Parts: sequence; C-alpha cells; structure tokens
Amino acid sequence: MPNISKISLEIRSNEPLNRNCFRLEMCGDGIPAFSPGQFVQLGIPGKFLKRPISVCDADGEHIVLIYKAVGEGTEILSGLSGGSRLELLAPLGRGFSAEACKRSALLTGGGLGSAPLLFLCKTLLGAGKKVNAVLCFNTAADVVLADEYKKLDVEPQIVTLDGSMGIKGYATDAVFPGHDFFYTCGPLPMMRAVCNTLPGPGQASMEERMGCGAGYCYGCTIKTADGPARVCADGPVFDKDKLLW
Ligand SMILES: Cc1cc2nc3c(=O)[nH]c(=O)nc-3n(C[C@H](O)[C@H](O)[C@H](O)COP(=O)(O)OP(=O)(O)OC[C@H]3O[C@@H](n4cnc5c(N)ncnc54)[C@H](O)[C@@H]3O)c2cc1C
Ligand code: FES
Repeated sequence: MPNISKISLEIRSNEPLNRNCFRLEMCGDGIPAFSPGQFVQLGIPGKFLKRPISVCDADGEHIVLIYKAVGEGTEILSGLSGGSRLELLAPLGRGFSAEACKRSALLTGGGLGSAPLLFLCKTLLGAGKKVNAVLCFNTAADVVLADEYKKLDVEPQIVTLDGSMGIKGYATDAVFPGHDFFYTCGPLPMMRAVCNTLPGPGQASMEERMGCGAGYCYGCTIKTADGPARVCADGPVFDKDKLLW
C-alpha cells in the first residue's frame, strides 16, 4: 500500500462556479505530492464515510478540488466557509500516466471529469506535449473550467447535449484521431463511447461508490481483463484495453 497520510487542512475558499458546482481551495502543512488522476477522501462534518474527490490542482501548500453538490455530504460541504478545517486521506489511487503520451494527447472530459484532466493538461504541457481538449456538458449553464484551459493556451472544444454552447451532441461528435494517446474522465457511457471510437491507446478514470477508498474493503471492485480490480487502489485510472465495461 502506498504512503497514505491523514491531514487536516484549512479551507481558504469554497466558491460556487455555477448553480451546483464549487471550487474548494484548502491550505496547510503536510500536503503530499499528487499525480493527475489521483484523489483524496474528504471528511465531511457529521458524516462517517469520507467522500472521494479528484485533485484538480495541488502544490506543497494548496490543494484545489472541484465538486458538485449531489447529495447530503456535498451539500454540507458547499455550506462551509473559509477558516473551517477538513480532514483528508491522501494521496489515493493510481493516476494517469503522462509518460504514456509521447507527442500529443486528446483529453475528453464529461462534466466534472474536466477537473482532473485540467491537472493532467498542465502536467502534459509542462513536459512539452501538445494537448487538445474536448469538454462535454448537458447544457451551457453546466460548463466549468473552460477558461482555466484557455489560460493554459488550450482552446477546449465545448460539446453540449442541447447545443446551447459549442457542438451539439455527444463527445463522440467531437473527438478525433491523430493523437498518440488519449485520456478520458466523466460518465461511464461517455468514456466507453470514447474508448470505442478512438482507435489508439488511452486511459479512462473509473468511478465507483467507495467505502474505505484505500484498498481495504473491496467495495469498489470492478472486472478487468486482469481479473477483479479495486477502483480506489488499482485505479481509478485504467488502460483502455483492460476495461470490460
Ligand atoms: C475516484 C473518484 C473521484 C471523484 N471525483 C469527484 C470530483 O472531482 N468531483 C465531484 O463532484 N465528485 C467526484 N466524485 C463523486 C463523489 O465522490 C460523489 O459525488 C460524492 O461522494 C457524493 O457524496 P454525497 O454525500 O453528496 O452524495 P450521496 O448522498 O452519497 O449520493 C448522492 C447521489 O450521488 C450518487 N453518487 C454518490 N457517490 C457516487 C460515486 N462515487 N459515483 C457515482 N455516483 C455517486 C449517488 O448514487 C446518489 O445518487 C468522485 C468519485 C470517485 C470514486
Ligand atoms: S473503497 Fe475500499 S477497497 Fe476500494
């Protein structure tokens, strides 16, 4: 098992990005190094089980998470303000392999899957790789982080299901071959369609309900070409050819 730390961090800001998505920035000592695609288990006041949230950005002093308020835990989280403290387990999981991309990568994010891919985008650009990004949402009001990609000089292709922004349709209406590696994170049907559409090698970040989040309870097990695998510890990122969907 990798070195997992329990850390206590102070909320620096917890701001809405749209009607139900929030940007949570925390700071403090003991923040470990993360690779893109790794996640934290975030303790929520009053909740026994921690909630898994992907890392959107991190350095030794800050960590940024983007989350959607979908249930009790994330609703409680959205009500917390600067100065409150949260407990985290980190770093968790196996992230994306930036080294697998030799020259150019296609990133395809669905909803908040765009958040860990932003971290990956920075890493790939920092290693001199070329990056194209396709970001998919239900409607224009759901679009998040597009400006953050633009700040990195990556003009994301926006796709909305209802056509209210960018291309109307699905991720598969916008993804295109010509990259030596692709990475995807988002709803499972979108990732499956992207993996089936793009001929080359790639990786997808899987999502399962989690108990411990650290490899002990086997509650997040999926079937893969290599046998049963725990999304939290053997993933969440898996090679395309290992996924049985
Ligand atoms: C590896 C990983 C990374 C994640 N990264 C992010 C992230 O960056 N941002 C973010 O907003 N969310 C992320 N999630 C999902 C997040 O963990 C859940 O939305 C959160 O735990 C919901 O907690 P809750 O108490 O608000 O909702 P609950 O009351 O527990 O559930 C509310 C609704 O959300 C659904 N739900 C809860 N957990 C999951 C899950 N893991 N997968 C699919 N549906 C779920 C439930 O079925 C229910 O419909 C990630 C999940 C995993 C496994
Ligand atoms: S959630 Fe416990 S092993 Fe994955």
